[in-house]
Amino acid sequence: MSYHDANNQNYSTQNLADAVGDHQSSGYIAPPNNEKPRGKPTSKWIKFGIPIAILVIIAIVVGAVVGTKKNKTSSSSSPAAQSSAAAAASSSSANAAIEELATGKFAAATNSLYMVPIFPQVTDTSVFVSPTFASSAKASLTWPTDTFSAPTPAVTSVRPDRPRLIAPQYKWDVLPDHIANDPYLSYWNETIFGNATTWYNDDPIQYVFDGGNGILDPARRFKQRAKAFSYAYRMTNDTKWVDRLWLEIQNVAGNYSVSFGPDYDKWDSNHFLDTAEFSAGYGIAYDWLYDVWTADQLESMRFTLIEYGLSFGVQAYTNTSSFIGWWKTNTTGNWNCVCNGGLTLASLAILGDDTTGTAEQLLGLTVPDALENCAGGPTSDGTWSETMDYWYFGTTGYAEMTSALITATGSDYGMLNSAYQNTGYSHMYGWGLTQLFAVGDTGPNKFSSTANGMFFFSSEFNDPIPALYQREQADAADPWSMFWYDASVEGAFWDGLPLDRAFDNEIDQWVSMRSTWTNINGTYFGMKAGMNQGRQTHNDLDCGDFVIDAMGHRWAGELGDGDYNAPYYFSNDTQGSARWYYYRKMTEGQNTILVNKTNQNVLAKPTILGYESTNDTQGSSTIFNVSSGSTAYWYADITSAYFNDTSSVHRGMRFINDRTQFLPFMWRMHTNATVDISSNGTTATLTIDGDEMIVSILSPSSGATFTKSDALTNPNPGVTVLIIEMNAGIIQLTGSFLSSMERWYSSVTPPSVELANWSLTSHNT
Ligand SMILES: *[C@@H]1O[C@H](CO)[C@@H](O)[C@H](O)[C@H]1NC(C)=O
Ligand SMILES: *[C@@H]1O[C@H](CO)[C@@H](O)[C@H](O)[C@H]1NC(C)=O
Ligand SMILES: *[C@@H]1O[C@H](CO)[C@@H](O)[C@H](O)[C@H]1NC(C)=O
Ligand SMILES: *[C@@H]1O[C@H](CO)[C@@H](O)[C@H](O)[C@H]1NC(C)=O
Ligand SMILES: *[C@@H]1O[C@H](CO)[C@@H](O)[C@H](O)[C@H]1NC(C)=O
Ligand SMILES: *[C@@H]1O[C@H](CO)[C@@H](O)[C@H](O)[C@H]1NC(C)=O
Ligand SMILES: *[C@@H]1O[C@H](CO)[C@@H](O)[C@H](O)[C@H]1NC(C)=O
Ligand SMILES: *[C@@H]1O[C@H](CO)[C@@H](O)[C@H](O)[C@H]1NC(C)=O
Ligand SMILES: *[C@@H]1O[C@H](CO)[C@@H](O)[C@H](O)[C@H]1NC(C)=O
Ligand SMILES: *[C@@H]1O[C@H](CO)[C@@H](O)[C@H](O)[C@H]1NC(C)=O
Ligand SMILES: *[C@@H]1O[C@H](CO)[C@@H](O)[C@H](O)[C@H]1NC(C)=O
Ligand SMILES: *[C@@H]1O[C@H](CO)[C@@H](O)[C@H](O)[C@H]1NC(C)=O
Repeated sequence: MSYHDANNQNYSTQNLADAVGDHQSSGYIAPPNNEKPRGKPTSKWIKFGIPIAILVIIAIVVGAVVGTKKNKTSSSSSPAAQSSAAAAASSSSANAAIEELATGKFAAATNSLYMVPIFPQVTDTSVFVSPTFASSAKASLTWPTDTFSAPTPAVTSVRPDRPRLIAPQYKWDVLPDHIANDPYLSYWNETIFGNATTWYNDDPIQYVFDGGNGILDPARRFKQRAKAFSYAYRMTNDTKWVDRLWLEIQNVAGNYSVSFGPDYDKWDSNHFLDTAEFSAGYGIAYDWLYDVWTADQLESMRFTLIEYGLSFGVQAYTNTSSFIGWWKTNTTGNWNCVCNGGLTLASLAILGDDTTGTAEQLLGLTVPDALENCAGGPTSDGTWSETMDYWYFGTTGYAEMTSALITATGSDYGMLNSAYQNTGYSHMYGWGLTQLFAVGDTGPNKFSSTANGMFFFSSEFNDPIPALYQREQADAADPWSMFWYDASVEGAFWDGLPLDRAFDNEIDQWVSMRSTWTNINGTYFGMKAGMNQGRQTHNDLDCGDFVIDAMGHRWAGELGDGDYNAPYYFSNDTQGSARWYYYRKMTEGQNTILVNKTNQNVLAKPTILGYESTNDTQGSSTIFNVSSGSTAYWYADITSAYFNDTSSVHRGMRFINDRTQFLPFMWRMHTNATVDISSNGTTATLTIDGDEMIVSILSPSSGATFTKSDALTNPNPGVTVLIIEMNAGIIQLTGSFLSSMERWYSSVTPPSVELANWSLTSHNT
């Protein structure tokens, strides 16, 4: 039983067939007999044995349609020539870049959908030093040592001074000086005040109930305001922020003129994330403004916090027949981190003032439970197995809880484990050059979820790289960052950072490969194998799935999450689950091998057969070209994802031609491009924003043709599936996916090499 994210309906009593008719529009594909997965896998595999290799050539042509973007005069110059040409081509943007550098900030965030930072393309390596903390130039910006250190930390014994949560007074004392000396802090401070001012002038948060997500958005908005208003007061002593926050506090208690939810359960304990986020907001407001609240205000806040928040927390833990605490057992996903985090912050805030014993009781429950569950949110290699998108919620909950425990009680109780030490890297490598490797349930950017836990990991694990990465990002301006970020950090995160990384925990198994960290127009691919279970039912049936970025576009992409309110969407991850009949979740909706239109086996346990890299690391400059012969490859045995198969199914990808071309074993891909297939069926022309990708089947000369279809679900506006259909028996493809980047390189046609014989040099021409 996995009810997470779904609304509180009793799925087991609802007839699956009832659901089918109503939900065609959310992409629900009716199973043939309304009960079983459709199709049986092909037995042709068994009959035909060794598959025929198909060679596909794909060329990416910059600005083929928009003539002005095209420069055909220099036919195949070096990447270095291209890069300096790009920099020279727009000297005004180069000037802007140098101005940006002069302020001490490297990147300018784009206003693109995914807010990818744009790095100035300059060779001024003197500004881009190696990652470090507290060099002699920056030593004065380290945080002072905390004078509170509990000799024997206990979760119910808290520091004597306020604030106790995340931002102790000794940090506020030096923050203005750090802001004055660090351009990132200065920018974030301005932004937080700007956001606080916007919210100050807004109406109080409205109660809006959104089916499967309950009142999570209002809860997160409340917490956001509690943080920003408290921050603004403490930085100015202007009580207008306190008064405005009090209004929000009254509002979500139902004590303002507008009604706010049902009296018995205003904070929506049935969707406990909401309860937890409201509680966290109350805890922060209570603690950060402790000295300005009156005794009456403090008492009212404690009352409401226990009434609508903490008492439900106790119920979640102690009432075994209650559904609201489902997340406390065997739940290593974001729910456990967010729920325990909110209850912990709120309990720590009122500990000592709370005469009911509720806070103390809860702390005895949340900490051990988070150690059992949330601490395992990332697998050993740091990947958030629930999906890279849920990483944001989970790591935020984890960082808030762990940071608050450390500041309030002097110990992390073991939360700071090596999986979290690695997790910042899974995030960095999980970001392609245009957007996330968005496997499984991934939604649009959530306004309140940030990656600022990266600052906390950086400081706690004494590793400058995650902080240097995150400070360039658009979501970095957040009150938490002001206290987690160590302003003595310095350098370029990419300096010395390997281009490739393979994540090998058996649940995850994925790889990330790229040509650069700092140019949106470079090449990137992510590919995964991994298990189809053990992911909190947020995954797809997608062993072998991949994405590709090149020339600033995502050419092969993911469809993301479906409608969370659709029937049975989260019912379970067994083979027969209705979840797998939704196009976005079924194997057919993935960029992987599809056999007889049948879903993959949920019990799949792939193995990684090969991973090698020339181990290139980027240097200090943002202009970077790999050295000659640079490559990497990765391939997996995903046979166990397919039924009744006695032959083997392998899946892999590699770079060729110095990372300007891709060579995948590939079957189908989903693309936003418009797709035009030639009449003979062997060439497909893909177009995005005037850039073209030309895909041609080179061999065999007959028997393989392209077809396309619309992705079979709504809403997937404009998404096309490019499919290669073959005569019976072919299950493996050897494709050469060439991004010719014509001005830099001439395309090469690599030799056809059996997967088992791949090496770093096997495709040299
Ligand atoms: C493909 O699936 C259909 C049912 O969906 C089944 O009837 C057929 O036998 C399968 N073909 C092979 C070759 O397994
Ligand atoms: C695989 O083969 C077995 C035995 O023939 C059969 O019972 C089962 O339904 C098949 N599985 C699928 C998914 O077709
Ligand atoms: C933070 O930003 C606010 C708003 O712009 C400004 O008034 C304040 O001086 C800044 N704080 C510091 C320490 O610079
Ligand atoms: C805060 O302000 C910045 C700058 O105006 C804006 O881009 C950002 O969306 C705001 N953040 C939130 C959470 O509203
Ligand atoms: C706010 O008041 C406190 C206590 O009086 C004082 O120490 C602090 O300097 C004041 N901060 C500002 C920004 O005025
Ligand atoms: C809200 O009103 C109730 C009922 O008067 C009161 O018990 C509670 O303390 C109030 N809460 C806040 C935060 O003012
Ligand atoms: C939790 O997982 C363990 C190991 O898989 C299993 O034995 C146990 O029954 C599960 N507990 C619950 C309450 O689901
Ligand atoms: C990426 O390509 C676009 C379009 O060709 C160009 O405008 C932009 O300057 C390039 N960016 C970099 C960093 O080279
Ligand atoms: C289509 O574009 C959107 C917006 O950039 C992106 O989120 C999505 O992943 C793309 N889909 C595919 C199939 O590439
Ligand atoms: C899984 O969910 C489906 C509905 O999608 C239901 O029919 C089936 O009984 C569930 N199986 C388990 C083991 O809960
Ligand atoms: C790359 O690094 C790995 C891990 O350190 C090492 O095993 C491998 O030999 C290196 N390969 C090359 C080509 O340097
Ligand atoms: C198929 O058509 C394309 C585009 O018209 C052409 O370039 C290619 O040579 C043709 N291939 C064959 C095998 O006829």
